[in-house]
Amino acid sequence: MLLGYSMGAMPPMMASGEGAEKIATWISTGMKGDAPAEFGACASCHGADGKGMNGMSPNLAEYDDILVAKVLEHGKKGAIGEMPSFKSRLNPTQVKAVSVYLQSIQGE
Ligand code: HEC
Repeated sequence: MLLGYSMGAMPPMMASGEGAEKIATWISTGMKGDAPAEFGACASCHGADGKGMNGMSPNLAEYDDILVAKVLEHGKKGAIGEMPSFKSRLNPTQVKAVSVYLQSIQGE
């Protein structure tokens, strides 16, 4: 299930093996310092800073308002199952509240 970003779907096999490990480590430790060279394959869509180029694609640095709203609207398929859409259950104010809360607990 896609999240509805204007860039659409992400192509598979953008990175693998050691390159993928380096990118994952850099992103999960807060994107400090220079990006690994392998991130060049991602920067064309996610931006050099990984923040999604103003909503064109997902922000990889944090769960921003756009990403939270898209996940709540479209649901999300993960490795252990699928989260349903909350579109009919949350109004825009509630979506914003969820987003503010998620940002407040980031990095804890
Ligand atoms: C051609 C453009 C493009 C490239 C290149 C690309 N991505 Fe993406 N990426 C996207 C789009 C569009 C989505 C959202 C897809 C969806 O709707 O589920 C996405 C989704 C993601 C997500 C999931 C975000 C979330 O929480 O839902 C991650 C993580 C990610 N990309 C990481 C990467 C990494 C790492 C690379 C480089 C190895 C990369 N992407 C290369 C376009 C791209």
